Amino acid sequence: MEVETYNSLGGQVALVTGATRGIGAAIAADLSNRGATVYAGARNPEDVTGPALRPLEIDLTDEDALVDAVNRIDDEKGRLDILVNNAGVMDSRSALAEMPTTVIDDTLDTNLRGPLVLTKYALPLLLWRDGSRVVNVSSALASLRGDAGRGMPAYRISKSGLNALTAYLDAEYGDQGLIANAACPGWTRTEMGGPDAERSPEEGADTPAWLARFKLGCPRGQFWRDRQIIDW
Ligand SMILES: NC(=O)c1ccc[n+]([C@@H]2O[C@H](COP(=O)([O-])OP(=O)(O)OC[C@H]3O[C@@H](n4cnc5c(N)ncnc54)[C@H](OP(=O)(O)O)[C@@H]3O)[C@@H](O)[C@H]2O)c1
Repeated sequence: MEVETYNSLGGQVALVTGATRGIGAAIAADLSNRGATVYAGARNPEDVTGPALRPLEIDLTDEDALVDAVNRIDDEKGRLDILVNNAGVMDSRSALAEMPTTVIDDTLDTNLRGPLVLTKYALPLLLWRDGSRVVNVSSALASLRGDAGRGMPAYRISKSGLNALTAYLDAEYGDQGLIANAACPGWTRTEMGGPDAERSPEEGADTPAWLARFKLGCPRGQFWRDRQIIDW
């Protein structure tokens, strides 16, 4: 799809969660290479290896850490143009009846409650300027119409919730200049995706990083894959 995006992100500030490895590290590198100041969310800041990234301690299950992270960006830069809710965990191929409740809680806390609460605290900074972007890294497994069976119930439901957050943000804040979108990166060779996956981390990062460069007037409130809008 042809849309008008920023080629340079000079002067802009981004926060990417789960930027220690995999798709998040590739998104952070792309935005940084385009000139953005990129805060790289990590449970352990020492795990951030990308050059020029600013490690930022974020455990999505720790509300105080989310508050502290947003406050640090506000103190240091006073703006936030891009929030990429990328960090996530996968449950397992077990069906719901066999899934430990602790796994359900951990998956929903990390993949859904964490981004919801982080976005809540980031919104005042994001809304400071027209045209800020929220990119939610979702999954085709979120689809309500697709292959909804066969394990990973907490993961699927967490990503359906993340898609719902995307639609909510667009309905609530789209007219105030926020550009919120969700993306499926495709099956990607990471710790989560495994070695047999089809795509490199850079290929998985392509659509989320592209959405992070959207300008005002670009489509918003949509679910994307391979730079095309797909069904929720
Ligand atoms: N790979 C795929 O095939 C695929 C397909 C569809 C969607 N996705 C989505 O793409 C996103 C990135 O996945 P990936 O494949 O790059 O996974 P990954 O290599 O396993 O990386 C996951 C990242 O999330 C972070 N994380 C996990 N729990 C966290 C928590 N409680 N607080 C903060 N950060 C936490 C990890 O940080 P630590 O270094 O601290 O562990 C790591 O940086 C996920 O949302 C995933 O659901 C992936």
